[in-house]
Amino acid sequence: MLVYIATYGCQANERDSETILGMLLQVDYQETGEETKADLIILNTCSIRDKAEQKVFSYLGTLRQLKEDKPGLVIALCGCMAQEEDMVDMIRRRAPFVDVICGTQRLHRLPEMVRLVQSGMGFQSDREEPGEIIEGLPSIRPYPFKALINITFGCDNFCTYCIVPYVRGRERGRRIEDVMGESRQRVDEGAVELMYLGQNVNAYAPFPELIRQAQGIDGLRRIRFLTSHPKDFHRDIIRAIADSPKAARHIHLPVQSGSNRILNAMNRGYSREAYLALTAKVRQAIPDVVLTTDIIVGFPGETDEDIADTLDLINQVGFGSAFTFMYSPRKGTPAAKMEKQIALAEKKARLQAVMDAQAAKGLQLHQSLVGTRMEVLAEAWDSGRLSGRGSGHQLIYFPGEPDGVGLFHRVEVTQARTWTLEGIACDE
Ligand code: 5AD
Ligand code: SF4
Repeated sequence: MLVYIATYGCQANERDSETILGMLLQVDYQETGEETKADLIILNTCSIRDKAEQKVFSYLGTLRQLKEDKPGLVIALCGCMAQEEDMVDMIRRRAPFVDVICGTQRLHRLPEMVRLVQSGMGFQSDREEPGEIIEGLPSIRPYPFKALINITFGCDNFCTYCIVPYVRGRERGRRIEDVMGESRQRVDEGAVELMYLGQNVNAYAPFPELIRQAQGIDGLRRIRFLTSHPKDFHRDIIRAIADSPKAARHIHLPVQSGSNRILNAMNRGYSREAYLALTAKVRQAIPDVVLTTDIIVGFPGETDEDIADTLDLINQVGFGSAFTFMYSPRKGTPAAKMEKQIALAEKKARLQAVMDAQAAKGLQLHQSLVGTRMEVLAEAWDSGRLSGRGSGHQLIYFPGEPDGVGLFHRVEVTQARTWTLEGIACDE
């Protein structure tokens, strides 16, 4: 039996897809990259913005025919869309051929639900939110040299625009022993880079201790973590990173807006001044750190003045890169009901302005790296070139051989572009 998995959205979903594949291999499935050959198609979905959901619906549209041609085909929908209140009805209406809807906290039941469908039991749905964490599920990773490791699930922050607390549930942290056990196992299997995942890793109480313990794992070369929340980025966390040579010199620190009025309306829990003070403190403790961010434009009530504040903050901080998004109303969140929703054309213009400011700043930062050397973990090879990331998460391309993938290389930066760097491997 063959399974095809389509994964949308963030690293939490990527990690869940590894578990889905691990569980299915145990019950004798094999993975295929061709959906037409599959006996089981899994959509691991994302709800963060409307666009993500539209992508899933348009993919479902293409599956209708496949299902007609191949009646035994089972289609399962997992991930955040499975957890949205009205979404299940919508999926049943728009794609009645979906056989399984499996919520984000019910993944362990997926193989059983698929089996029930195959034995003629009809549509299966399980979207319970038990809250407890299920440890020890198998997983299959796409890259031998790096691994994603969850430290927390869910989110308790309730930023007013965000659907995550509703679809991923309350924040739950894993026991540090479990996190460390998985970490050691991954390194034993050959991983040289670990990425610790949580919606807000700084809310994980043992985070500094985790960094210290991971630093002690023999064979581990680099520690990453995602995502940090500015309101919880305490001094002991900065210290732990500064004191750990293996901790990547990169912090993804979403600011969302540079305007206090908007930050307030977003319920972010910090001011523009507090954010700037934090970045200064982080830079003082970790001088070579690269800060990256997320920015939303077009939040309800946002004015030209607010955007000017955001542009100003971009120029003051100097982010290595930024993910920029147009605000997308999410049903059931407070911001969706706020007055003064911003017109699409206006959102687009603001997005362009923010992207232009970041592009100019990002290029400047990249140019300052030309002539320096960095440690790069090569992740891919194509047409005579390796590509990978420096400690500061810069994406760099350099000539090399395919067997260089999965290894660290010392690379001199020769050329800067807005989003990427070019370099050449050097002997130490
Ligand atoms: N609209 C647009 N962007 C959003 N994000 C979260 N919710 C929304 C939304 N409703 C962005 C935030 C967050 C990132 C993962 O997605 O910037 O940091
Ligand atoms: Fe959403 Fe805010 Fe939680 Fe991030 S911190 S997942 S933006 S509610």
